[in-house]
Amino acid sequence: MTDTATTTTNEIDHTTTFLKDKHINYITNLDVKKDTFEYWVTEHIRMNGMYWGLTSLNLLGALEKMDKEEIIQWILSCQKPNGGFSGNTLHDDHLLSTLSAIQILVQLDSLDRIDINPVIEYIVKLQQEDGSFFGDQWGEIDTRFSYVAILTLSLLGALDRINVNKAVEFIDRCKNFDGGFGSIPGAESHAGQIFTCVSALALVNRLDLVDIDKLGWWLCERQLPNGGLNGRPEKSSDVCYSWWVISSLCTIDRLNWINTEKLKNYILKCQDNETGGVADKPGDIPDVFHTYFGISGFSLMGQFTDQVETIDPVYALPIKTIKKLGLKAPWNKLI
Ligand code: FPP
Ligand code: ZN
Repeated sequence: MTDTATTTTNEIDHTTTFLKDKHINYITNLDVKKDTFEYWVTEHIRMNGMYWGLTSLNLLGALEKMDKEEIIQWILSCQKPNGGFSGNTLHDDHLLSTLSAIQILVQLDSLDRIDINPVIEYIVKLQQEDGSFFGDQWGEIDTRFSYVAILTLSLLGALDRINVNKAVEFIDRCKNFDGGFGSIPGAESHAGQIFTCVSALALVNRLDLVDIDKLGWWLCERQLPNGGLNGRPEKSSDVCYSWWVISSLCTIDRLNWINTEKLKNYILKCQDNETGGVADKPGDIPDVFHTYFGISGFSLMGQFTDQVETIDPVYALPIKTIKKLGLKAPWNKLI
């Protein structure tokens, strides 16, 4: 074969074009590819995967591609007698999958398909004396779980059922000298944990505890010369930080402290122009997690607004859903 014959002719230049239709195809086919390694290693976190995929489709205006009733039935089959939801039918309940189940149900306009009281009870019982939250009965503590508990209860209109002051005190103890937040008191600042702490504080109206300019500096220093963002000093860029960093910058109203044009170009390069989907880094294999964070990153930066709906940085849901639920979002000028 000659060189010419082996050259793939792909007319779309993914470094400049948002591959909306390919991404829709990629997500809708995820459940078909059951013979892949990725399918089985993510089997236990399918509820999170469903949230990432479904929310991405919702942002792309393609929610009707999902079988709504089938998804609801599967979610119902993941609810345990203690009220929590598991990552998949044969697994144990966890706060993370419980939030995803509720986030999916509200997007499908189907919260009335469950009794929310056991879910509220489940979350209330996971709060500890010092205000922190266990992720499940096994007792891991992490500011991720503080956010997840506060967000889920906000969506269920039951924030008054936990000790909010104590929850805030715990998050404040996880604040560091650099303005960032870690997973537990004394742990280093990390963009993912910053997202959870800033968002949790926003939901309970306590953004006054954030040193906005100091944190803004730490966050904007995450942008590397290639335009991508990392999650901590000395780490490489990764598309998921387009969510963890940008959402935090949006919530504290400092998005203009990074170069959004350069970040847009970095995310575009991470698209797979054959299969669709977005990878963590240019040339890597895409996955549903980074596809969600890439699309949401564009959404938060106000890029491709004719193709991507607007997502809220704190609720991690399309703003049309927030509006429909009648929830407050003082950090968001669009709500
Ligand atoms: C980095 O993860 C991210 C975090 C620590 C935050 C995770 C937050 C949640 C799971 C809460 C739910 C989120 C949403 C959007 C509703 P990593 O393990 O990839 O970090 P690394 O890059 O340091 O490995
Ligand atoms: Zn990543």
